Amino acid sequence: MKKIIITIDGYSSCGKSTLAKQLARKLNYTYIDSGAMYRAITLYFIQNRVDWLSTAAVVEALKNIHLEFALNSLTGLGEMYLNNENVEHLIREMIVAEKVSEVAAVKEVRDFAVAQQKKMGVRKGMVMDGRDIGTVVFPHAELKIFMTADIAIRVERRFKELFEKNKNVSLDEVKENLELRDYIDANREVSPLRKAEDAIILDNSNLNLENQLQLVMQWVEDAIMAHTS
Ligand code: DC
Repeated sequence: MKKIIITIDGYSSCGKSTLAKQLARKLNYTYIDSGAMYRAITLYFIQNRVDWLSTAAVVEALKNIHLEFALNSLTGLGEMYLNNENVEHLIREMIVAEKVSEVAAVKEVRDFAVAQQKKMGVRKGMVMDGRDIGTVVFPHAELKIFMTADIAIRVERRFKELFEKNKNVSLDEVKENLELRDYIDANREVSPLRKAEDAIILDNSNLNLENQLQLVMQWVEDAIMAHTS
């Protein structure tokens, strides 16, 4: 069967990565979490006290950053390595979440990440999620999905996820962080979060995972049909 590129963009905590992983498993595609790259760069900036408001400091720091996804053979998923260190768990911490949207708004950071993401799409059979994947990274992707869900539902989902790892996290803190990130992501100057004109909207406020996958698999089949000549 013809392999395609599937892009999933949308607000924070809509379940983009959950859907992307389900699709990758079902289709035997590669899943790339583009947000992990921005998170890893943010982690590096925090750890090395890089001032991301200074273009010179950012350009210099990016020279020392090597990002790579390596497969975890147990889960079958790629994990983020920053300069050969597995940072898959560290990059999910609140300290990174609090700063990542600011760092991801820096043009030089985006150019750095986007160039690598584009290279990964040379081979088809890929699902990539993020904020600008359908608009900037793969504007010619065969299937583009734009995800959204009620803010209250998103806050609850992210809270549960974070609370499992850290009992000190509060609902208010999570809500504030999500709202702020959505605002910065959608209002930044360089490739802001927006729906590609040809993206299909998926509002999963009232969809369970099974129904969601069923619906999207139909879109995948349609996209493959439409692009098979
Ligand atoms: O998907 P995520 O929550 O892990 O993404 C973390 C942040 O990275 C998010 O707040 C915005 C930014 N991001 C981006 O600007 N562009 C992408 N393609 C992916 C993520």
